[in-house]
Amino acid sequence: IASTSLGKVTIIGSGLIGRSWSALFARRGYDVCLYDTVSSQLEVARSVLDTLLVQWGDEDWLKEGENAQTVLARIRYSDSLAESLNKAVYVQECVPENVQLKESVFKQIDELVGDDTILASSTSCIIPSKFTKGLKHESMCIVAHPVNPPYYCTLVEVVPSPWTTPETVKKTIAIQKEIGQSPILVRREVNGFVLNRIQYAILMECWRLVEEGVCSPEDADIALTEGIGMRYAFMGNFETMQLNANGAVDYCQKYGDNIKKICLEQQELGARDLSGPTLDKVSQYLNSKIPIDKLEERRAWRDDWLKAIAKEKIKRKDM
Ligand code: NAI
Repeated sequence: IASTSLGKVTIIGSGLIGRSWSALFARRGYDVCLYDTVSSQLEVARSVLDTLLVQWGDEDWLKEGENAQTVLARIRYSDSLAESLNKAVYVQECVPENVQLKESVFKQIDELVGDDTILASSTSCIIPSKFTKGLKHESMCIVAHPVNPPYYCTLVEVVPSPWTTPETVKKTIAIQKEIGQSPILVRREVNGFVLNRIQYAILMECWRLVEEGVCSPEDADIALTEGIGMRYAFMGNFETMQLNANGAVDYCQKYGDNIKKICLEQQELGARDLSGPTLDKVSQYLNSKIPIDKLEERRAWRDDWLKAIAKEKIKRKDM
């Protein structure tokens, strides 16, 4: 039952993200080899994946006709890099976010893989040219940045370096779609890729609104959760333009000047250090709402919400 025609995927690093990728690739039918240098981490990964896949089985979050055991049987655990990489068609690196470490891990992988293997990194914010330059297989290296938890937040930012071949980009996008993710192409290397650039623009405006005394931290969060955030799970800003007037051209004619005026004001206020009295205010609000010793509970609450939204999206099939 464990054998599959899809081929073998190697996951390097069995932490939070490596485990999630393992579940996603195995669910689709890939044979997964999960590698880590720390064997106790592999043990944790095994137990987390057992629990996660049983839960997916109970919740109809697996392909029809499959159960936790069939999917778990596709996942192998290894502390040998050479064995893990043998015959892999796709590698997803998930080691801690440190450029020297990524560079050294990619060098080791480069020595052990065949010429057709895609070498993807999960890095959140390091552009691929910083750790793939000069490798034998540099043209096969790419970033595939997930969002946590990747099985509910399906966006994957695919970021090629200048030397990544178009074929590598195409194949990476195809594989990501195949496992149920929603890849977007970041056409050139920029800091923060796309998601974090958008997220940080919103964060900085919330910060300034609090700093300028326009609203409380709590109300800035409510503006998101009860306002624009209600749309964001299924409709982006551009589609909002199309619907909130008689099409986007009409929207821009009607609101464009005002939007530009406000954005110029924001630009004048500029980026702020995320410290000082505003941080005190923000963290006071947050610590009273979610004490630090309740973070795990709150993360479970968040994942539960994300799951409900993800399921609703699949049900409506309008993703
Ligand atoms: P983590 O700290 O949970 O796991 C890292 C794993 O890598 C550990 O199991 C560690 O033992 C292992 N490791 C360390 N050195 C290694 C080596 N040389 N070879 C093989 N394994 C090694 O980290 P996490 O959160 O899973 O992050 C991994 C990557 O994914 C980072 O680049 C991070 O920026 C990115 N990412 C993380 C997200 C998150 O929300 N945590 C979201 C999106 C991307």
